[in-house]
Amino acid sequence: VLGGVLFDLDGVITDTAELHYQAWKELADELGIPFDREYNEKLKGVDRMASLKLILQNGDRKFSLEDMQRLADRKNERYRELLLTLTPEALLPGVRKLLKALRRDGIRIALASASRNAATVLDRLGVTDLFDFVADAGAVALQKPDAEIFLNAAEGLGVHPLRCIGIEDAEAGVVAIHRAGMQAVGIGTEETLPDADHHVSSPAELNPALLRE
Ligand code: BG6
Ligand code: MG
Repeated sequence: VLGGVLFDLDGVITDTAELHYQAWKELADELGIPFDREYNEKLKGVDRMASLKLILQNGDRKFSLEDMQRLADRKNERYRELLLTLTPEALLPGVRKLLKALRRDGIRIALASASRNAATVLDRLGVTDLFDFVADAGAVALQKPDAEIFLNAAEGLGVHPLRCIGIEDAEAGVVAIHRAGMQAVGIGTEETLPDADHHVSSPAELNPALLRE
């Protein structure tokens, strides 16, 4: 019996990828490192420091760990400024309705995002109250495709992983959901998310009855 639904954030609830892109782009430009939207695709679902490393890889300078921490902090400050432009209108279509319907049916709801800014994003979108638990990305040692963040989210809800479903738009996330022993709904196609158990093109196509099935 379905007990909990675990949501990824970016690409499932809202599209913060563009804001991450803008913040990284400013940094890359300052450093004279080439960076474009296509390369940005590689950063989806990847945590902050790993993202920075992927960007620095395209430059020829070496940075100390300390320097890298400073660069990551700088990007995050800029990203948090950009988050101030987010409003409830940035919720993807159908998300609020889905969250409310799940709640009405007594299904518990958690967020399982790699972002340490996830709580701020939920606040800006005005949906904090609709989540029963937000997994702490900062407390996770192993990133997606490891199962850890999804297992933390299920534990936070007090629902056994086998009674949870995860919703993801990235293949690494789908793999993480499966490693956690859960069924995975992919926002995408068979092509982009070959391992997902069920595909939809938008969260607007989801409802509690479909998820139960
Ligand atoms: C993920 C994004 O949700 O969070 C990544 O898809 C991002 O692009 C990662 O790097 C970490 O985010 P933050 O907010 O902790 O820097
Ligand atoms: Mg995502």
